[in-house]
Amino acid sequence: MASTAITHIGTLITNTPSLGHGPLGQLHDAALVIEDDRIAWIGTTSQTPATDSHHDAGGRAVIPGFVDAHSHLLFAGDRTAEFTARMSGRPYTAGGIRSTVTATRRATDAQLAANLTAHLAEMHRQGTTTVETKSGYGLTTADESRALRVARAHTPETTYLGAHITAPEYADDPDGYVALVTGPMLDACAPHARWIDVFCERGAFGADAARTILAAGRARGLLPRVHANQLGPGPGVQVAVEAGAVSADHCTHLTDADITALADAGTVATLLPGCEFSTRSPYPDARRLLAAGVTVALATDCNPGSSYTSSMPFCLAVAVREMGLTPDEALWSATAGGAAALARDDIGHLAPGARADLAVLDAPSPVHLAYRPGVPLVHAVWRDGRPVPP
Ligand code: NIG
Ligand code: FE
Repeated sequence: MASTAITHIGTLITNTPSLGHGPLGQLHDAALVIEDDRIAWIGTTSQTPATDSHHDAGGRAVIPGFVDAHSHLLFAGDRTAEFTARMSGRPYTAGGIRSTVTATRRATDAQLAANLTAHLAEMHRQGTTTVETKSGYGLTTADESRALRVARAHTPETTYLGAHITAPEYADDPDGYVALVTGPMLDACAPHARWIDVFCERGAFGADAARTILAAGRARGLLPRVHANQLGPGPGVQVAVEAGAVSADHCTHLTDADITALADAGTVATLLPGCEFSTRSPYPDARRLLAAGVTVALATDCNPGSSYTSSMPFCLAVAVREMGLTPDEALWSATAGGAAALARDDIGHLAPGARADLAVLDAPSPVHLAYRPGVPLVHAVWRDGRPVPP
């Protein structure tokens, strides 16, 4: 078994309180040993055991790789004109999804895969080591299933979102579309997906349709998650909690009852600051969620409409500036929080036995991620115990 040490880590964030100081389990002048794809040892530089190879971090900070638990990377084209119009005052309505559906259906498998891998490479360069990604821009059985097949070659965290909007062909027969999504489309997609998602929102799917869709997915072994309460108050969070969803995503417009329901059920709230930023919407109040005991995750929501950023450092900085998270809380939410939102216990933290997924920062402390927004601070990324080529 090949072993590698990384030593002289200025600040090491383990997200494992028993290994260091505070809730993030911080260590200084730290070192870690990797064996194959796992962390084998964590301690101080002076105590590092002998290993086959050795990297000196030169005082840089090391954090667990970011876990981006919400993205939509199976698409073609972009929506520059829609963004420009929005920045001149036009509101975001999700109606633009249709134009991405048209472009995505026209794309070849190779074009779809190339677009996906280009965005994944962008994410890796910015410190992300796990990416969840969704279908939802195909809306036919063939287009949804090929999107998931393409995605599955690159990540195990694939989500079937046939219920993004009603397909244009079913505009006059929304019930017929729900029957397709829960019938033949589900049959074709389930083998390539781990999760099922539904956009539960006025203009997309109501509470009853969302319940039907999530139940059908569950019956096929898919785990539920929900786009909830993004554009306004509504039933999304309650539907997510009832369905036993691991995560309710967006959570922009929440009542006290929604927050209590999330806390009581242990459902993660995955917040997507890039979306509020790019749609000029009010940000959710993360402090209110944390005060109620809700687990908060941060993700990019990377998609060509509402949030075309692939950068977890950007989202983390916006969450600190606009949502009330401290830099430490935002870092936890972007790593361990994302792992919770994906029900994964092998990622999002660094400890013996955990996957060796980490980012080395050109900074002495990870606070710099929020303190120096927009500055490319990711020096190197390791995934499955190996450096990811730049
Ligand atoms: O998460 N809310 C629904 N879906 C995406 C936006 C999709 C789009 O505008 O293309 C979201 O924000
Ligand atoms: Fe989304």
